[in-house]
This record gives sequence, C-alpha cells and structure tokens, in this order.
Amino acid sequence: MDIYHLIREAYEAKENSYAPYSGFHVGAALLSSDGAIYRGCNIENAAYSPTNCAERTAFFKAVSEGVREFKAIAIAGDAQDYLAPCGVCRQVMAEFCDAEKFQIILARSLTDYKIFTLAELLPELFGPKSLQ
Ligand code: THU
Repeated sequence: MDIYHLIREAYEAKENSYAPYSGFHVGAALLSSDGAIYRGCNIENAAYSPTNCAERTAFFKAVSEGVREFKAIAIAGDAQDYLAPCGVCRQVMAEFCDAEKFQIILARSLTDYKIFTLAELLPELFGPKSLQ
C-alpha cells in the first residue's frame, strides 16, 4: 500500500468539500481490496443534520458501486492535529471492514500521519457478527 499516495488523494478530495456552515473541510481516500481508491469529502446542509462526513461519502460511493472489501482509509482535514473519524463513521467502517486489519490513516500533512486499526478506534464493536 502506497500510504503517501492515499494521503495525497485524501487532500485532493478535501478540495471538493462543501462546508459553508462549519468552514471545516475534510477529505478521505478509501482503498478497496482490489486496489481502487474512492474519494470522499464532507457535504454539509442548511438543515445541519443531513451533513455527511468525508469518510462516509467515500464508503457510500464505493458500496454503491458494488465494492464490499476494504484495506485502508486516509483522512485529511483542516485541523492542526490528526483528524480522527467520528463515531458514526467508525460504525459504518465496522459494517464492511475487518476491524483487526482495516487501517485508518490520520494525516496531519502529506508526510506526517498516524495509523490505527479500526479495532483500536472502535473496541468491542457492534457489527454484522453481533447479530448472529
Ligand atoms: N467531519 C468529517 O467529514 N469527518 C470527520 O471525521 C469529522 C467531521 C465533518 C463534518 C462537518 O462537515 C465538519 O467536519 C465539522 O464537524
């Protein structure tokens, strides 16, 4: 996996962020198991609650194209610090990803990043297996 490339894709995705209310721009680049990259940005709404995070935009784009298996996601935002995904996005990741293997790359710049597994960011998760 080319981490630098995935982070660069996340920063490029951020360019399309629609965030007129918060002014906080976020981009994500989701790597599927077959090597394709799906970009996402946050999309805000005047009614606020329909706002979609960058990570979920990337997931929903990929899933709507029939993709179901993922390796990693890079996230880049306006924040000075590493930008961690919100709880709702972590839950969406839990639906489609192997928590022990899926890598979440929090970028602070193109070369400054931290990597966590989904299991680290969402321990004891409720997922598809919980319903069996
Ligand atoms: N946001 C994301 O896109 N991803 C995150 O992980 C955290 C928050 C967006 C939602 C909203 O448009 C803005 O950032 C401020 O919360």
